[in-house]
Amino acid sequence: MFEAKAISVDDKAEFYRELAQQLEGLLSGERDPIANAANSAALLFTTLPDLNWAGFYFLKSPDELVLGPFQGKPACVRIAVGRGVCGAAVAQRRSMLVEDVHAFADHIACDAASRSELVVPLIRDGRVLGVIDLDSPLPARFDRDDQRGIEAIAEIYVKASADL
Ligand code: SME
Repeated sequence: MFEAKAISVDDKAEFYRELAQQLEGLLSGERDPIANAANSAALLFTTLPDLNWAGFYFLKSPDELVLGPFQGKPACVRIAVGRGVCGAAVAQRRSMLVEDVHAFADHIACDAASRSELVVPLIRDGRVLGVIDLDSPLPARFDRDDQRGIEAIAEIYVKASADL
């Protein structure tokens, strides 16, 4: 049985180093992309404080993201590339750090409680495979340290997992 260790949140860089180690352990020896996404979402949701949603969207055709494994309330299933925070991350091939979702004109509200959001693309050899999406009920919950930390988490997921 995998047991997520309590991680001190005082030092964010240290927090994400430990989280990355835990994820490597959790995914080691498994290539299934859905199983790995499910366990990654569960680890993120249970270790990161102040989240109301953590999960994956996969690019299953060139112009549309489809909902993958997640923790939180049921969410929108399909998001067109270029739409919402997730679609913008794919179109621009970069992480999106949104301090106030109400100020992001094209934000797609899946859970009315969400106030801030971090979306990080999953990239293999220059190809976008999908995104990791984190939502928080707190405004400005995420900063550049969280962005860097989740980008490292996305890299571990991509290395560990086969294509969908
Ligand atoms: N807020 C996202 C949609 C996905 S949900 O947050 C789970 C967006 O604007 O793309």
